[in-house]
Amino acid sequence: MIQEPHHDLDRVTMADETPEWPPAELDFNKPTIARAYDALLGGKDNFAVDRALADQTSEFIPGLRESAVENRKVLVRGIRYLTRDAGMDQFLDLGSGLPTVENTHEVAQRENPDARVVYVDIDPLVAVHGRALLASDQVTRVMTGDVRDPQAILSAPEVKGFLDFSRPAVIMLVGMLHYLSPDVVDDVVSAYRDVLVPGSHLFMTSLVDTGIPQQQELARITRENLEEGWARTPAEIEAQFGDFELVDPGVTYTALWRPDGPVDPGNLTPGEQLGMSGIAIKLH
Ligand SMILES: C[S@@+](CC[C@H](N)C(=O)[O-])C[C@H]1O[C@@H](n2cnc3c(N)ncnc32)[C@H](O)[C@@H]1O
Repeated sequence: MIQEPHHDLDRVTMADETPEWPPAELDFNKPTIARAYDALLGGKDNFAVDRALADQTSEFIPGLRESAVENRKVLVRGIRYLTRDAGMDQFLDLGSGLPTVENTHEVAQRENPDARVVYVDIDPLVAVHGRALLASDQVTRVMTGDVRDPQAILSAPEVKGFLDFSRPAVIMLVGMLHYLSPDVVDDVVSAYRDVLVPGSHLFMTSLVDTGIPQQQELARITRENLEEGWARTPAEIEAQFGDFELVDPGVTYTALWRPDGPVDPGNLTPGEQLGMSGIAIKLH
């Protein structure tokens, strides 16, 4: 199970603008990725249309909810590794999702209270909830933006001048890589890799295609309802790390990426076979 929330409400600051409610772009009749994922995780920041999609998709895809929880759990393990073992103290969390339990800044700042985190999400509700739920300080920011426009993200005031890309940093596409379509994924991910200096890390998790029909089926349902959704082979996921060096155990099923307890690789559940994860370091 995911641990109980550990909200460190005094340490977070959000962008300067006054929260706008409801955001102009909000459409109550159309599901969004962030809200449907929140519904899958049992969160409260979603509407009936998101819950309906989460419920219906879960009926077709056994283990879908479990895979969402697994993804949150590897996010915690990954950030813990990056702060504790790799000494990282700057995180650009792309496609960060709605605030839930054990958010990136909470895990990172528990290890290093000065670790800086910028959350980016295309769903305006993310920034609204971020600003509303989290109190002010100098080490965490949230902004609305489209990951597919790296130049806009990297030059945004919330990122530029707040994260120092002349020092090692972490770029995260956790539960996000599979929303980048085949026609943009290479250019987008390489643009983020290129901004990093040696010693930096890339942390990605993705819907995978290892030949199990439900994986492509989930991608299809996601594309039909949420516009983007692409299941990639392990080799295709690995290719997105470019010439970075994967840290052990490489790109693996998410449950097998540095698990907290024993996991039998030969006995993974359907949900544990939906996603893969990896972290790599830029060496040169
Ligand atoms: C499955 S959630 C993952 C949330 C979190 N990173 C996690 O792993 O728990 C994917 C998030 O990516 C966001 N997203 C999808 N496409 C995006 C894009 N082009 N730009 C920014 N965010 C995007 C969605 O709004 C959603 O919040």
